[in-house]
Amino acid sequence: MGSLTTTRRWVLAKRPAGIPDDTTFALKEQPLPALEEGQVKVRVTHFSLDPGMRPALSQDTYVGATPIGSLITSAGLGVVEESADEKLKVGDLVTGGFGWQSALVAKSRHCVKQNPALFQGRVTPTAAIGILGIPGMTSWFGLKNIATLKEGETVLISSASGPVGATAGQLARLMGAGRVVGIAGSKSKCDWLTGEAGFDACINYRETDNLAVAMRDATGGGADIYFDNVGGEMLDAAITALKPGGRIAVSGQLSEYNNPEPRGIRNTLPFITQRLTMRGFVVLDYVREFAEAGTQMVQWINDGKLLYLEEVIDGIENAPTAYAGLFTGENFGRRLIHVG
Ligand SMILES: NC(=O)c1ccc[n+]([C@@H]2O[C@H](COP(=O)([O-])OP(=O)(O)OC[C@H]3O[C@@H](n4cnc5c(N)ncnc54)[C@H](OP(=O)(O)O)[C@@H]3O)[C@@H](O)[C@H]2O)c1
Repeated sequence: MGSLTTTRRWVLAKRPAGIPDDTTFALKEQPLPALEEGQVKVRVTHFSLDPGMRPALSQDTYVGATPIGSLITSAGLGVVEESADEKLKVGDLVTGGFGWQSALVAKSRHCVKQNPALFQGRVTPTAAIGILGIPGMTSWFGLKNIATLKEGETVLISSASGPVGATAGQLARLMGAGRVVGIAGSKSKCDWLTGEAGFDACINYRETDNLAVAMRDATGGGADIYFDNVGGEMLDAAITALKPGGRIAVSGQLSEYNNPEPRGIRNTLPFITQRLTMRGFVVLDYVREFAEAGTQMVQWINDGKLLYLEEVIDGIENAPTAYAGLFTGENFGRRLIHVG
């Protein structure tokens, strides 16, 4: 304790074309700066692997393009090792946008102090950067503010076993949806969704010849809402499986992130004939409302009504391989790196 003098950090070595590989990232060790007033030294225990940061590795985005040589961004969980700010004490558990690294010196106001009392029931500290962090909030605000879910409606969700999708499906049910249908890439994912997670049906898209027909069948004649995490062909199929007045909440475009020539949307006619609407969002726009949503989610988790899956992979050196696995369907739940 207190002896941290360096950080190991993954930086961007080369812009990837396609799924990131060994040449995309480089692991560097560098000294930590001395603490200044208002700063803390944090030992990172876990950081997240987020598919949504992939576009910034190759191109300009709403957060800019990640510069070559820059730290890879992600959510992190850590422990305060040294403090030069009375608001945080040694031993405090904190979260923040710490990136793929083992330690950092940060302004204390860039760290969110976590209340240990939160983690006495079924909620684990890593949930603070998962279901109670960006992925869970994406599900919540995507359904409530973007899709404007109403009682009894049918919701179709892609990448349904991922942290965003699985939470969206369970929240949809808790918020009053009539039918919840997931789309996922394996039998085991579908079995979990229709079993423990309580989805009404699941389409294994890798074993489906006609996705549009499968979507219409599984939704019982069409969905009111498509919660889109994937884009591309799956989105085109979902457009034809929406009821008149259907809404598409665009959360993510997983199938396009590694594609240098995005496929885009081709089925535009149903937007007219079926009076469809499609709206994208960045969850950070709702940050002021996170605490209220979190309080409700904690209660549902502790009541056993809201489940979350985490896949914790040991070793900072494994981050790039574990990250690439997000784009081949390897992960089952929120993928995190346990730094140590
Ligand atoms: N709008 C926002 O503010 C916001 C914030 C956070 C996240 N997001 C978005 O939410 C989405 C889900 O993120 P997540 O963290 O929960 O990750 P995730 O769903 O676990 O993402 C990985 C999974 O995506 C599926 N997948 C990967 N490539 C695919 C492809 N080409 N076609 C179909 N499925 C593919 C795979 O599952 P299968 O085995 O089922 O194929 C894989 O296991 C992402 O698009 C992310 O960008 C948006």
